[in-house]
Amino acid sequence: MKLLLGVSGSIGAYKAMDIMRLFQKNGHEVTVVMTRAATQIIAPLTFETFAPGKVYSELFAAGQDPLLHINLSKENDLLLIAPATANTIGKMANGIADDLLSTLFCAFFKRVVVAPAMNTHMLENPAVIDNIDRLKSRGVEIIEAAEGVLANREIGKGRLPDSETIYRHCLKINSV
Ligand SMILES: Cc1cc2nc3c(=O)[nH]c(=O)nc-3n(C[C@H](O)[C@H](O)[C@H](O)COP(=O)(O)O)c2cc1C
Repeated sequence: MKLLLGVSGSIGAYKAMDIMRLFQKNGHEVTVVMTRAATQIIAPLTFETFAPGKVYSELFAAGQDPLLHINLSKENDLLLIAPATANTIGKMANGIADDLLSTLFCAFFKRVVVAPAMNTHMLENPAVIDNIDRLKSRGVEIIEAAEGVLANREIGKGRLPDSETIYRHCLKINSV
């Protein structure tokens, strides 16, 4: 499959590298779209090394296809956003398109899989719960966050599930 991997600014963003490699090792083509916050957490160069010419983070960039947000959505089979921050989920649920990833989501007309990853208290925030529910009701596939040790050393729900779980989920969604 041709996968669009959206990476937003969660501390779990480095794990998206492992997800990308897993898809690639199994013969899938991966294009990466990072938010600006994600580029603060993991360098685009890390993805670029294994996906040369297939890593984007800007909506407006000199020399880039001006219609990248439309063309990427046409060319790819599935959009996976992993990890998905509270902010990116909120924008997706409310039709806000103010960066490449959120604009791409608005233009994407095929299956979308979202793996939220955040601190338990953020995950339990009523606005975040509403936003996740809203996406679910519109047919977006949500992979539940896993429980375990969080970035602040507390134990709770909010971790990005392991790469295999996310991979298998995407394969299943793409086959129906
Ligand atoms: C070190 C660090 C770790 C963060 N981890 C998370 C996280 O796991 N989940 C989350 O929703 N936000 C997290 N944030 C907050 C987001 O980065 C912030 O809300 C940002 O605006 C998200 O932008 P984006 O959705 O465009 O990537 C973190 C911030 C910092 C500084």
